[in-house]
Amino acid sequence: AEDGYDLWLRYQPLEQETRHQYRPQLRQLLIPGREQSPALNTIASELVRGVGGLLERAPAVSEHIRGDGFVLVATPQSSPLVRAEKLPLKGLGDEGYLIRSVKIRGHQGTVITANSERGLLYGGFHFLRLLQTRTSIAEVDISGQPRIGLRLLNHWDNLDRTVERGYAGQSIWDWWNLPDVLDPRYTDYARANAAIGINGTVLNNVNASADSLTPRYLAKAAALAEVFRPYGIRVYLSARFSAPVEIGGLTTADPKDPEVQRWWQGKADEIYRLIPDFGGFLVKANSEGQPGPQDYGRSHAEGANLLARALKPRGGVVMWRAFVYQQDNPEDRAKQAYSDFVPLDGQFDDNVIVQVKNGPIDFQPREPFHPMFGAMAKTPLMMEFQITKEYLGFASHLAYLGPMYEEVLKADTFARGAGSTVTRVVDGSLYGHRLTGIAGVANIGSDRDWSGSTFNQANWYVFGRMAWNPDLSAEEVARDWLKITFSNNPTLLDIGLEMMLASRQAVVDYMTPLGLAHLMATGHHYGPGPWVSDLARPEWNPAYYHRADRNGIGFDRTGDGSNAVAQYAAPVAARFASRSGVGDDLLLWFHHLPWDYPVASGRDLWGELVYRYDRGVATAQNLQDQWHSLENHIDPERFDKTARLLAVQAREAKWWRDASVAYFQSVSGRRLPAGSAQPS
Ligand code: GCU
Repeated sequence: AEDGYDLWLRYQPLEQETRHQYRPQLRQLLIPGREQSPALNTIASELVRGVGGLLERAPAVSEHIRGDGFVLVATPQSSPLVRAEKLPLKGLGDEGYLIRSVKIRGHQGTVITANSERGLLYGGFHFLRLLQTRTSIAEVDISGQPRIGLRLLNHWDNLDRTVERGYAGQSIWDWWNLPDVLDPRYTDYARANAAIGINGTVLNNVNASADSLTPRYLAKAAALAEVFRPYGIRVYLSARFSAPVEIGGLTTADPKDPEVQRWWQGKADEIYRLIPDFGGFLVKANSEGQPGPQDYGRSHAEGANLLARALKPRGGVVMWRAFVYQQDNPEDRAKQAYSDFVPLDGQFDDNVIVQVKNGPIDFQPREPFHPMFGAMAKTPLMMEFQITKEYLGFASHLAYLGPMYEEVLKADTFARGAGSTVTRVVDGSLYGHRLTGIAGVANIGSDRDWSGSTFNQANWYVFGRMAWNPDLSAEEVARDWLKITFSNNPTLLDIGLEMMLASRQAVVDYMTPLGLAHLMATGHHYGPGPWVSDLARPEWNPAYYHRADRNGIGFDRTGDGSNAVAQYAAPVAARFASRSGVGDDLLLWFHHLPWDYPVASGRDLWGELVYRYDRGVATAQNLQDQWHSLENHIDPERFDKTARLLAVQAREAKWWRDASVAYFQSVSGRRLPAGSAQPS
């Protein structure tokens, strides 16, 4: 049944004509050394399974080339034949690969080669993707290598199997039965991630329990690391800063205390004995009630370096999160991370990387890029995206996040003049950093389809593909995904693509149009709550963000207001500070404006606000209609579940609009503009 379990590893038979074209090119598979190497064995079985499924005929696995149509997968070290080809592998590093059509001893075939087994793995998966996307392999010459070093999933999974902001069931980590029972799902998880280039996973929630660092849980993490290793995936853990007190019996976790330092060193040694390739720690400190160095009057840098020094001898890294904002801090929340961190530039050890959310508040449907990007020349910064849709309708609404990732990555920080894109901060090229990374907060759970819906799988997929190559467009990745997930049917591809590319803007329109943010209901963040204004922490109230009253709406972050614009490089600051320059998509993020302010469309602000809410509802309705037009192209199981979810979305888009417009109307005292859809 098409229950979505197989993700992008479905390997269902291709169209007959395509199968016939490929078959003569895929008769034989040669992978020398596979008996001795778990990694090579992994590649061999994936290729046999993939090609066998797609072509309905598995290639013969053999030791010698017997004719045309071979695929030889080897490093120059593992095969004299590949060595003799003298292929250009120099610049491809440790994870790159080359796929090339060759003639060896008079026979036509394909070589997949690399400097390492990991490179072969990625090359093998790329080769399968060529087939899945029906790309000709008659004359291939493809090389690939990742632009970003650490390509990680962050699981916000708790040890009791609940998942913070998870909407796809329970955690897939069965902590109770680990390390003895290894669910085959762990292997499929590793396959799916390796296929899109992800090379690390943080197993536990950033709101971490210190228990995850106890011997009992480390043994469980080690068992997972063993399953993942042949797939090039390293294990990382979220570390609780106060662990020396909670599980170490110390009276302090002060970074300057020698006993605390010894405790972390001992802990690191213990971990590396169990997990020799352990990746390192992710830390949320002094944020939303988590303990941290500031509890002892120390800085984030002093806290990060404490852990970094413990990991350093074994090559581990510390990913120190910049998602901080403090209780009772009157400063605009959007400014606080920058204020805390930028003065520390230059103080972090070289195995620390600071992990920054894409925007300055918190994973909203749309935010400007985070002002820290570009602002810390001496500190490597990694990107944190959220794949799970905490603020975009959970797992039930369709919102393809590719366009959002692309929008942020392509944004120009102007930190070193034009062309200083966020991508160039993250890939290290802007300031010449070698430690680089990108993290996605996973949307994975125990649901049969992993992510709560078929379309949510695309968000995991596009995250991995863009982590490997941040220059990919959301559109080309969506096209690949549709082909792999459904079929090559042109109608399906056209309409599917339109749906995906329209979906995120639709969510922005019916939840938080025109640069508004954080209007979701309290706590769970599902559904509208713009009227909420009585929560204890001011910066948790939607009213703190929209600031609507009888006269106008929006958060003034110009020099007349919080001056958050000044945290951006001068040309960006000038653009954001300009009412006409900022663009209507971010207008109310940076400006407080009167209701009759004329926006670019010619409407006044009130009219535009209502127009955008209506537009979001119309698009959600259209998604539903478009999907129904594809009924004949999709298997009943996935068609039906998606149709039901799209009906939920269309209904709830109206809920969002009607509640929000009614509320803002009650504040503004304005009438609905002529022609707007009436609340139903
Ligand atoms: C958001 C989210 C929290 C999470 C936090 C974080 O605020 O709602 O659940 O812990 O982000 O990223 O640390």
